[in-house]
Amino acid sequence: MKTIDELLAEGVTGKRVFVRADLNVPLSGTTITDDGRIRAVQPTVEKLAAAGARVIVASHLGRPKGAPDPAFSLAPAAARLGELIGADVAFATDTVGESARATVAALTDGKVAGIENLRFNPGETSKDDAERGAFADQLAELADVYVGDGFGAVHRKHASVFDLPARLPHAAGDLIATEVGVLKKLTEDVARPYAVVLGGSKVSDKLGVIDHLLERADRILIGGGMAYTFLKAQGHEVGSSLLQEDQIPAVLEYLKRAEEKGVEFVLPVDVVVSEQFPDLKTKAPSRHTTVPADAIPAGVMGLDNGPETNKLYASKLADAVTVFWNGPMGVFEHPDYAEGTRAVAQALVDSEGFSVVGGGDSAAAVRILGFDENAFGHISTGGGASLEYLEGKTLPGLAALED
Ligand code: 3PG
Repeated sequence: MKTIDELLAEGVTGKRVFVRADLNVPLSGTTITDDGRIRAVQPTVEKLAAAGARVIVASHLGRPKGAPDPAFSLAPAAARLGELIGADVAFATDTVGESARATVAALTDGKVAGIENLRFNPGETSKDDAERGAFADQLAELADVYVGDGFGAVHRKHASVFDLPARLPHAAGDLIATEVGVLKKLTEDVARPYAVVLGGSKVSDKLGVIDHLLERADRILIGGGMAYTFLKAQGHEVGSSLLQEDQIPAVLEYLKRAEEKGVEFVLPVDVVVSEQFPDLKTKAPSRHTTVPADAIPAGVMGLDNGPETNKLYASKLADAVTVFWNGPMGVFEHPDYAEGTRAVAQALVDSEGFSVVGGGDSAAAVRILGFDENAFGHISTGGGASLEYLEGKTLPGLAALED
C-alpha cells in the first residue's frame, strides 16, 4: 500500500486528488451531532492541500436510494470541513454532473472542494459490476490521483471505494494507515489478557466476529440489545426485550464452544427495565427499575446494564492488556439508560491496557457522554469495517489499495 507521504514525495502540485473519505456523520436536521469522522480525515486533506494538490473530497452519507435526497446532503459536512481546515471548501451540488465538473475545474493549487453524496448516484452501491464501473469511469474523469481514506466504508464493494482506485494511481491516506495499524495489533500477537466487549442491538450483526474471537479472545463481555438473546438461550425470560429467537441455536453453540476453549463469556447479571422505549427526542424521564437479569418480568424491556453488571464488567476489564469494544450497552442516547455504556467507557479509560473503541455508535457514545478521546488507545471511525477486519474478511477498499 503506497502511503500518502510516498505519494507526496512523487509530487502532487497541480494534480487533482480524489480523497474518498467517510463523512457519514450523525445529523439532527442539518446540525452535525458528532464531527469525529470529519476531524479524522482532516490531516490527509491538509497534507495534500499544503503540497499544492487540488483536493476533491467525496463521501457517502446515510443510505439514500440512489437519487438526490436533501435529507442526506453532504453540504453540512463540507462546511464543517471548511471550518476545521480554516479555508473555503467549494461544494458541488451533484456527483459527476455539471456542478462537479465546474467545481473541480475552478479548483486552484492547494484548494479543497467537496462533491455531493456519492450514493445519490445508483452506480455507487450497485451490485452490477458494469453499472458500478460506469460510475467509477465518470468519477475518474474528475481526478488524476486517488487517495483512499474512508476507513468506515472499506468493507463496502462500492464504486468509489473499490472500482475507482483501479482506474487511477492510488495511495492510502493517514487515517486508513492508522486504523489498519491498530487492527493489526488486535489480530497479530495480541497482548493478553485480551477482553472484548460487544453490544448493540442485533446478535446477527456480531455472529461473524464472535465466531472469530472465540479463537482469540480471553474474555467476551456481552451487553446491549443482543444480550437478551443470550439470556433467553440460557433459559431466562426476557419480557418484551429485544430478542432474535432465530439466533438462539447459534448463541448456544457459541456458549458451548467458549466453555470448551476456556473463553470466559460474561453476561449481564442485572438490567434496567421499563414498560416502554424512552422518547429519544424529548429525552423526558421515563419510568424504570433495575431487576436481576434472570428474573425480567413479563411486559418490561431491558434497556441498559444494571449497577451490579457495571461493577462486574469494570472488574473484568481492569486487568485486560488489550480491549476491543464495539456497540453500546444500552440506549445511551437517553440519560436514564446511559450508565452501562458510560461504565464500560470509564473502565477503558481507567485501564492501563491498550483500548480500542470500534466505530460507529460506540465512538459517538464516548464523545456524546463527554469522555476525552485521548484517554483511549484508539477510537476507530469504522464500526462495520473494523468488525469485518476482525472477522478476518478481505475488505474491498483495502484490497483495492494494495497494488
Ligand atoms: C458506517 O457508518 O459504518 C459507514 O459509514 C458505512 O455506512 P453503511 O453501513 O451505510 O455502508
